[in-house]
Amino acid sequence: MTLLNNKRYFSAGGKTNEEIEITDISFTDRPNVILGRAILPLSKLEKNVVIYGQTVADGQVEYRTISAKCPHQGADISQDELKADGNVYCSLHHRPIGVFSEYNYAYLVEKRADKFFIVKT
Ligand code: FES
Repeated sequence: MTLLNNKRYFSAGGKTNEEIEITDISFTDRPNVILGRAILPLSKLEKNVVIYGQTVADGQVEYRTISAKCPHQGADISQDELKADGNVYCSLHHRPIGVFSEYNYAYLVEKRADKFFIVKT
């Protein structure tokens, strides 16, 4: 599913030098929105994450993940939609959280069979 209206491709801004498996995968009724848990880079605690998939220019689905907690005041963003500009807008104060937009800190994810991994970038 492609909904992005970005004219340019913005690579995933989140960086890691280790591969991290996302566990407790659960599929939602929203296309290409998947929930899971992971110890994100720079964190020592396992957290809920949201994985978003989008079809990119080469026709492949690219997956990215962010914490399910808003970086502003920690609201749960797992039910908030990824908009066409590549941001999720937190439902509490409506701040944008970049996923596929220019200024994002989302982590690149690879799907391998039925497992998802944050990959080195
Ligand atoms: S808690 Fe998300 S914008 Fe404030």
